[in-house]
This record gives sequence, C-alpha cells and structure tokens, in this order.
Amino acid sequence: MSLLEVQQVSQHFGDLVAVNKVSLDIEEGELHAIIGPNGAGKTTFFNMISGFYRPTTGHIIFGGTDITAMPPHDRVAMGMARTFQVTEVFPELSVRENLRIAVEVTQGLRRKLFATRAQAARTAEQVDELLETGGLIENADRNVGELSHGDQRSTEIMMALALKPKLLLFDEPAAGMGNQETYDTAVLIRRLHRKQKLTIILVEHDMRVIFNLADRITVLTEGEVLDQGTPDEIAASEKVQVAYLGEKREGA
Ligand SMILES: Nc1ncnc2c1ncn2[C@@H]1O[C@H](COP(=O)(O)OP(=O)(O)OP(=O)(O)O)[C@@H](O)[C@H]1O
Ligand SMILES: [Mg+2]
Repeated sequence: MSLLEVQQVSQHFGDLVAVNKVSLDIEEGELHAIIGPNGAGKTTFFNMISGFYRPTTGHIIFGGTDITAMPPHDRVAMGMARTFQVTEVFPELSVRENLRIAVEVTQGLRRKLFATRAQAARTAEQVDELLETGGLIENADRNVGELSHGDQRSTEIMMALALKPKLLLFDEPAAGMGNQETYDTAVLIRRLHRKQKLTIILVEHDMRVIFNLADRITVLTEGEVLDQGTPDEIAASEKVQVAYLGEKREGA
C-alpha cells in the first residue's frame, strides 16, 4: 500500500480548472518532485493534499484512510507536515524558541498543558537535535528575522520536522535564494530523505535541486500531468523537453 494515494483530484475556481484529474502514488521513503511552469497548479495541488482546499473531484488516501474531507489540523495530527512558498516562522523569536514552540505544539497534541521538569528536559533535548540536523547550532539564539533566507528556511523545515511527520510537503523551499543557499537547502533535504528516510513531496523550480534529489518526478502543465517518471526518464522525455525544458532554454 502506498503512503499517499491521490486519485483523480481536480480543483475548479469558478470557470478556471487549476488542477484537472491528477493522480499520484507516493511510496514510503520516496522523494517525489513536482515541477511545472508558473500557474501549472502545483501549489493548488499541495493545498488539496494538505487540506487547505477541498478537491472539486477525486479522493486522497493517506495511510489507508480517506482524508479527502479532513481539515488541515487533523492531517497534521496524522503525520502530514508542510512548509509554505513564503516562509512561516516567528521572526522576533530566536531559532531555539521557534523550535521549542513547534516541539511543544506537537507534544500538546498528546499531552497536558504544564510540563514537568522531565518533560522540559526532553523538549530541550529534541530542540538540540533539531538545531543539529538543521545546521542551526551557531545561530540558535539569534532572532530568526535577522538570519539569511537559507537559515530561515532551515528553521522552518526543522519546525515541520518537530512534528515527526510521516510525510513532508515542501513548496519551493529554495524560492528567492542564491546559489549557496539553494545548495545548502538541497543538502538539508537530501539528508532528511537519505538519513532519516522521510517521505517528501517537493515543489521546486530549480532544476539542479530536482534532478539531484528526486526519486521520481511529476511534470504538471496547465493543471494536468504531462509526464511522470525517474529523473532520467523525465530528462529524456520529448514531451517535457518541448513543453517545459525547451521553453526554459528559449527564455535563457
Ligand atoms: N484561490 C484561488 N482562487 C482563484 N484562482 C486561483 C487560486 N489559487 C490559484 N489560482 C489559479 O490557479 C492556477 C494555478 O495556480 P497555482 O498557484 O497552483 O500554480 P503554481 O504551479 O503553484 O504556480 P507558481 O509556480 O507560480 O507558484 C493559476 O491560474 C492561479 O491563478
Ligand atoms: Mg506555487
């Protein structure tokens, strides 16, 4: 059984069909990338998986449960975490404080309001682990708003990881970043995938990131699946070259 089964989902905004009967199966441990030109429907598709939009048609099955009508917070409780195209952190709090909030919120899904000393120690330990995984130890006590784009994004990714998710959804994690930060973000995502064996769906424009990281790729154009396959298959796909990569090359 796949971890996530998206079956023929569509999203209509009035007359506009932003996503048209898209299906996708995600296996446990897979890193699946979704690419496509601006306005292809990538974020809309994400919003249906994470529950921000209810699909107009189709079904979404997560861990064997039909979650098509389930609100976002219940999906989070089931182990689905996401980041946004625009970073969502508390800029006036330190990295450590941001992560502590994320860890405590996760515990709050299961535990009572007031932490015992043992719980507080466990929280601090988890925060330290997240700081380490995210390469954020040096910046732990700086306000997130003062950090580089890349470190803000790492903080946000680590906040999502605090949920101990079964599935991570990243919407353009390298958006607006320079080369070094893009590389650092890609390295972090690769580490989450390879070392922690996390299942990840990634929307990204940067082809270097996609082709280096993904196990499989889905190409969306105008709300529909143009092609699906491994990076090698997608790189060799004539349809994709004509409709998407070719278009890019002309613009370059
Ligand atoms: N809430 C909404 N109401 C109406 N139309 C919307 C809404 N959200 C998206 N759209 C439209 O749906 C289409 C797909 O948009 P979407 O944001 O999903 O594309 P995208 O692939 O994420 O693009 P980008 O690469 O620019 O992030 C676009 O035509 C967009 O204008
Ligand atoms: Mg988008």
